[in-house]
Amino acid sequence: MSKYRKVMVTGGAGFIGSNYVRMVCEKDPDRKIVVYDALTYAGNPENLTGLEDRIEFVRGDIADTETVEQAMAGCDAVVNFAAESHVDRSLVDGRPFVKTNVEGTYVLLDTAKRLGISRFLHVSTDEVYGDLVGTDHHSLESDVFKPRSPYAASKSAAEHLVFAYGISFGLNVVVTRGSNTYGPYQFPEKIIPLFITNAVDDKPLPLYGKGDAVRDYMHAEDHANGIDIVLHKGETGLAYNLGARLEVTGCEVAQGVLNNLDKPESLIEFVPDRPGHDYRYAVDPAAAESLGWERKWTFEDGLAATCRWYLENEDWWRKIKRGEHFQSHEESWYAERQA
Ligand code: NAD
Ligand code: TYD
Repeated sequence: MSKYRKVMVTGGAGFIGSNYVRMVCEKDPDRKIVVYDALTYAGNPENLTGLEDRIEFVRGDIADTETVEQAMAGCDAVVNFAAESHVDRSLVDGRPFVKTNVEGTYVLLDTAKRLGISRFLHVSTDEVYGDLVGTDHHSLESDVFKPRSPYAASKSAAEHLVFAYGISFGLNVVVTRGSNTYGPYQFPEKIIPLFITNAVDDKPLPLYGKGDAVRDYMHAEDHANGIDIVLHKGETGLAYNLGARLEVTGCEVAQGVLNNLDKPESLIEFVPDRPGHDYRYAVDPAAAESLGWERKWTFEDGLAATCRWYLENEDWWRKIKRGEHFQSHEESWYAERQA
């Protein structure tokens, strides 16, 4: 049972947020949850299907002080997932990233301070550390930030505000820095769900550059569990890395998806690289592990389970891929690269 009786989960209709809400509803029936979400292109009420009676849903923007205050009143903890989350989109238009990730986080922090919220967990990313290519270093929480994309820069700025509110006003803040995450309900713009859904339709899998950039892919259930452990056990004012201790290349992701779906390697298409592409992220999650967290999923089992989920939930992703937001991104971003 949690010491937090009512938790505001911002971005709870998105990918990791909805996995988190589902996990809490299953393991802690007494914890009340307010999902606060603007339902941008990435937010989807269907991600919370079956939980309607368990949660209170408020549609609102985290940068809107009045609506935030109404929804946060009566909560004792906040878990902030809400963000613009896709690097490629941040390269096309960074403004929504600054508005939501920086200004929105500020509004949440300031409201939390005024309302006397007991605990504020901010969900951040390993991308704040920047590119580790050419080294065998694993990022430590004490490392300096070297963000290289507008997305990573906005998440770094948000973290600075979070710690400033802890120091200046004594707000009980804690941060998680998760690695690349995959699993059910992920919008099919990130590599794993994009490649799975393309492969199902025999469409090309666009690999940037040589497909040799590595990521530490972590299953959403492990990420969600890590966040909840840090919420309850993390030391105030600290950040905790969450990662699976894996280094998987883009080529390995593509091959894994094709093997699982029994599709040919000829679907792989090498396309021009992402500008400013970070070739290696790797975190040391020892501090989170010392709180009792460990990742449960291997990449092989997690990828197989995720492929099965997308095969069994075609209605969910086909609706998204037919939609305006997916189509316009595909047409502008990929058409340019595949021309
Ligand atoms: P997502 O894009 O799937 O979901 C984001 C959610 O936030 C959506 O439901 C969206 O509607 C909501 N949202 C966006 N702007 C909002 C606003 N202004 N007000 C209220 N709600 C808003 O994102 P995700 O992949 O689930 O990521 C969640 C968090 O985890 C983000 O903070 C992200 O930076 C972080 N993170 C993601 C990954 C990853 O691999 N996906 C890895 C590490 C950290
Ligand atoms: P992505 O899922 O966008 O996450 P992030 O950029 O936040 O790490 O990309 C993961 C890796 O996959 C990254 O090295 C870029 C690469 N990638 C491709 O090769 N093709 C694609 O179509 C996408 C979306 C990503």
